[in-house]
Amino acid sequence: MSGSLVLPPTVDRTVLYGALEPQVRALIEEGPDMVAAMSNAAAALHEAFGWHWVGFYRVIGDALVLGPFQGPVACTRIASGKGVCGTAWATGVIQVVPDVERYPGHIACSALSRSEIVVPLRDRTGRIAGVLDIDSVHLNDFDAADALALERLMTPMTQWF
Ligand code: SME
Repeated sequence: MSGSLVLPPTVDRTVLYGALEPQVRALIEEGPDMVAAMSNAAAALHEAFGWHWVGFYRVIGDALVLGPFQGPVACTRIASGKGVCGTAWATGVIQVVPDVERYPGHIACSALSRSEIVVPLRDRTGRIAGVLDIDSVHLNDFDAADALALERLMTPMTQWF
């Protein structure tokens, strides 16, 4: 068998997101509060996809403040318009960053992060109350399909703001 190569099965993310949706929805809805919901949502995504960092920042006063997360230690406060998270907050638009080194103003919490996606989270009135931030050690690890799926997964979070 020399020269043969066994490749790992390709993970179809669409299938994984579909399978995760009821679990993540239940975890978020079950609470019993925002911290519990965010903690388990971060853990479920981190575990399922193996991403480097998965976590939440909440709008508190004039900054995004670090919330529940899985992964290395991260910066605790981000101002509006700063970095990928602050830009998602200021614009209300999901940020998909194929290469963090090419994103002006990117805030590097971990030298291992290569690509990133940040999804703004809205409260019941439509105001942005936080963000979901995900970092990958791989370049170009997120696309429009991830943006749609993650935005959908986070819909029930609205109830905690
Ligand atoms: N890279 C983010 C900062 C948060 S960490 O990635 C966890 C940013 O530029 O806003």
